[in-house]
Amino acid sequence: MEVQPLIELPQRTLVDRFNRHLNYLRLSITDRCNLRCTYCVPDGFFPKLPSREILRYEEVLRLVKIAVHLGVSKVRVTGGEPLVRKGVYEFLDTLGRIDGITDISLTTNGVFLADQIDRIRKAGIGRINISLDSLKREKYKRITGFDRFDTVWKGIRLARERGVHPIKINVVVIRGVNDDELMDFARLTFDFPYAVRFIEYMPMGSHCRSYGQQILAPEILDKLKSLGELEPVPRNETDGPAERYRFKGAAGEIGLIRPISHHFCSDCNRLRLTASGQLRVCLLSNIQVDLKGPMRDGAADTELARLMIRAVLRKPRKHGLSCTEGSPVSDPMFAIGG
Ligand code: 5AD
Ligand code: SF4
Repeated sequence: MEVQPLIELPQRTLVDRFNRHLNYLRLSITDRCNLRCTYCVPDGFFPKLPSREILRYEEVLRLVKIAVHLGVSKVRVTGGEPLVRKGVYEFLDTLGRIDGITDISLTTNGVFLADQIDRIRKAGIGRINISLDSLKREKYKRITGFDRFDTVWKGIRLARERGVHPIKINVVVIRGVNDDELMDFARLTFDFPYAVRFIEYMPMGSHCRSYGQQILAPEILDKLKSLGELEPVPRNETDGPAERYRFKGAAGEIGLIRPISHHFCSDCNRLRLTASGQLRVCLLSNIQVDLKGPMRDGAADTELARLMIRAVLRKPRKHGLSCTEGSPVSDPMFAIGG
């Protein structure tokens, strides 16, 4: 394999046509998952990529190092469910040793948290997002297809006891499914230091729930206000697109992630690498650039870096998702990595 020093390339060049600096890489390390959330996998159908199509860890690490050279400093590991992949903890350890990464976080459904929290901590993961769409065991089972609520809840508690902070709980809000639990989720923040984040449902892939089932942030906020006054929390660097609020005196906080009602594209700093080695420049666009093919054909680091830079220049100004039109994205969430 031809080895060319990356030094040849200017550093910190991941800047798009709209002057957005892309310093945040979301890594989907697998398209597999041990749950079947209805909004993600609507008919329980979960196509799996053949193993050879999935990047090997050393391939992922190579691409990450190139991205870091080009200016990425924050990495989030996602899936599918990242913790189902064999060797993930060793991978996280190695990822944590890459110079230039200042922040590594994890998005998980939490099923393995209780068992593996110490290994996750040891790998230097400080910040964890957990998907949890119901606080009721039966309903959790209906949404995810599996009776794992108690396990996830125990994992969240253990993570808190082991000092993981922040712990973000992601709730995709769907009318008629879990909108009756908004208050219960919000009340959690009175006593616990969790960030409960309500996410507007995004139609992804070939399935679209009925749009009437979307609940947008203004309606969510309106409901929450009956619990007390919500004070805005100033945003910080690691917030991503969440709008943050806190009830007076509460231990935790509320976040609203509103891809539909308030496009946050103008300060988007994200890139995504899919499990199959495609670089995606926007979650809600089909644009993707294949890195796996060229890498397996022997491309040098500089060449892969150039492909990344070229991909970034194709990042759209904003996405076209709205509350009335069909999905502009043909791939499901588990294939892209959320
Ligand atoms: N709309 C909004 N959020 C979604 N997620 C998965 N599918 C969707 C969707 N269609 C969320 C998951 C997870 C995060 C990565 O994305 O709940 O928390
Ligand atoms: Fe798995 Fe996450 Fe999709 Fe649920 S939303 S099926 S936990 S990848």
